[in-house]
Amino acid sequence: MSIDQVLRTRYASKLYDETKTLTAEQEQQLFDLLRYSPSSVNSQPWHFFALVSSEAKEKILPAVTEANHNKIKKSAMVVVFTTHTEITEAHLKNLLAQEKQDGRFASEEQEQNQDKGRRYFVNRNSNTPEQQRDWMARQAYISLGFLLLGAASMGLDATPIEGFFADKLDSALGLEEKQLTSVVLAAVGYHDGNDFNAKLPKSRLPQEQVITRL
Ligand SMILES: Cc1cc2nc3c(=O)[nH]c(=O)nc-3n(C[C@H](O)[C@H](O)[C@H](O)COP(=O)(O)O)c2cc1C
Repeated sequence: MSIDQVLRTRYASKLYDETKTLTAEQEQQLFDLLRYSPSSVNSQPWHFFALVSSEAKEKILPAVTEANHNKIKKSAMVVVFTTHTEITEAHLKNLLAQEKQDGRFASEEQEQNQDKGRRYFVNRNSNTPEQQRDWMARQAYISLGFLLLGAASMGLDATPIEGFFADKLDSALGLEEKQLTSVVLAAVGYHDGNDFNAKLPKSRLPQEQVITRL
């Protein structure tokens, strides 16, 4: 499928076919879409929970608005996008060690510069704990975009879901103890033949209202 076809045919599925599951390869590809998403200063301030069992999905149902229950229950996988509750020293060290292991630095000076640059940016976005969390959430939303477009290009349907209560979801998954907090959800799978949204035309504001070429 061309990128143009993907853009015009993807949509937020409202009803999933619960008999259809994902292959191991599809699951892996979805995990790669999440993990390879870019983030500011490669901060990767996230953890993704992939809920595939009915037990795991049942657990989060009370935290999700009723309108979204069926999407959680019937889709093949629900991704819970979480971010760290704060950027810790341990996380910054972990990032640097990974970049070193992945061969990003030709010298110790380069390594130090990367660390310095990242800390500068993290600090710029950390005037308050709330500001830091907002910044981390923005990174998580980039991975949501990657997942939505990537899933569509794989021929899968997906639904981004903000209709949930973060405090309830955090308790349901024990996120607080893990120093994580939920940001957004996405259901992925195959749409049901009765999904009304599959047949509706796409609606977007005209280009001149949203894009200015200078
Ligand atoms: C961040 C975000 C949160 C959303 N939350 C929900 C939701 O809770 N339930 C739902 O059915 N659709 C949800 N949507 C789907 C949007 O309504 C949909 O993407 C939008 O109307 C554009 O339509 P399209 O995705 O079909 O092109 C959400 C979309 C985004 C991007």
